[in-house]
Amino acid sequence: MIARQIADAVNQDRLLESIDTLATFGARDDGGVDRPALGERDIEARRFLIERARALGCGVHVDACANLFFRREGDAALAPVMTGSHIDTQPTGGKLDGCYGVLAGFEVLAAMNDANVRTRRPLEVAIWTNEEGTRFSPGAMGSSAFVEPSRMARYADVRDSEGMTLSAALDHHRSAFPGLPQRAQHEVAHAFVELHIEQGPQLEDADVPLAVVSGIQGVRWYALHVQGSAAHAGTTPMPLRRDAMTLAIALRQELDAIAHELGRADTRVTFGRWSIEPNSINTIPSAVSFTIDFRHPEASVLAAFDEHAHAIVQRHGARIEALFTHAPVAFDASVLSCIDGACRALDARALHLTSGAFHDAMYLATHCPSGMIFVPSIDGISHNPAEATDAGHLALGARVLAHCLTTLCND
Ligand code: GLV
Ligand code: MN
Ligand code: MN
Repeated sequence: MIARQIADAVNQDRLLESIDTLATFGARDDGGVDRPALGERDIEARRFLIERARALGCGVHVDACANLFFRREGDAALAPVMTGSHIDTQPTGGKLDGCYGVLAGFEVLAAMNDANVRTRRPLEVAIWTNEEGTRFSPGAMGSSAFVEPSRMARYADVRDSEGMTLSAALDHHRSAFPGLPQRAQHEVAHAFVELHIEQGPQLEDADVPLAVVSGIQGVRWYALHVQGSAAHAGTTPMPLRRDAMTLAIALRQELDAIAHELGRADTRVTFGRWSIEPNSINTIPSAVSFTIDFRHPEASVLAAFDEHAHAIVQRHGARIEALFTHAPVAFDASVLSCIDGACRALDARALHLTSGAFHDAMYLATHCPSGMIFVPSIDGISHNPAEATDAGHLALGARVLAHCLTTLCND
């Protein structure tokens, strides 16, 4: 079988070398990577991958959000099978988050060349711009704009912490790669498969080397704004205070309790960003804002939390602002069965998991049949320089990806 032949042509040493080489662009002293989207280090990393793709005989295209597409032609003029992920990182990123999926895609291109195989459909490896959302918010800008180009108008004016707009960063990217052929967003795709590290502990706990990712849990992000009144910390009697922090903590407690009551063991709730006015040791806080990141695999639980959160906040006289929402995603059954088939063909044990984190596949799933594969993360660590995966697991994930992509390219 051709799929087996391509999987067997995956070269572990070449894959590991490419992971280490990409990690030199924005390398941190502690072994991690700091490569903000569309910054100089990202542009140099892209230049390196464009040269590698050309050396593999691939065509290279760019779209309006600087997503890059590396294409290995097929025999027929059919929609391509796509894979890939992102190469921007968190400020304290590791070598694997996103990069592994892109480089495993490159490894499949090289394995197809080595096996001298031409598939029926073209295969494309994509680099989706700004998945992390660290430089420009929200995350997954590239993939979400690819599936819904009207989002570009909203994203264009988003500024980074230095005041530079996304639109100016895209101009800079265009001037760095003046000769790259442009292509339209929303191009039809036959299927999309993203390979990624798990970024959590479940596979390691189960001692299983792979996951077929059946979906991505839903998410709601909010900002809460609590108003109090500044007053002297030493002279204002306790009953006369309007302390915004006291109220904010009470709200946090109530919201945390309702999140756990509604979502039970599957609840993931985080109150991650806090700001306080005037933030002075001897003044009673006059205003506190904080964020909620609530995630759950069931849409009904997300909706119930939304309703309760609004009621609780209103009862306390605070204000709630919805920042972002995404429904739970169920990946395509035929793509999942193709991944399952690849695991069986390669004798690889796999679990079915729901992803806790977002991924570009969350948006691609609205565009074409999509699915994901996870490999374990050592100690479940990610968004951290210590992020690591056993070399054998990295190679196995790439082999399963190769098998599955070849099958999809020939169906
Ligand atoms: C990003 O990966 C997220 O899930 O927040
Ligand atoms: Mn990622
Ligand atoms: Mn990430």
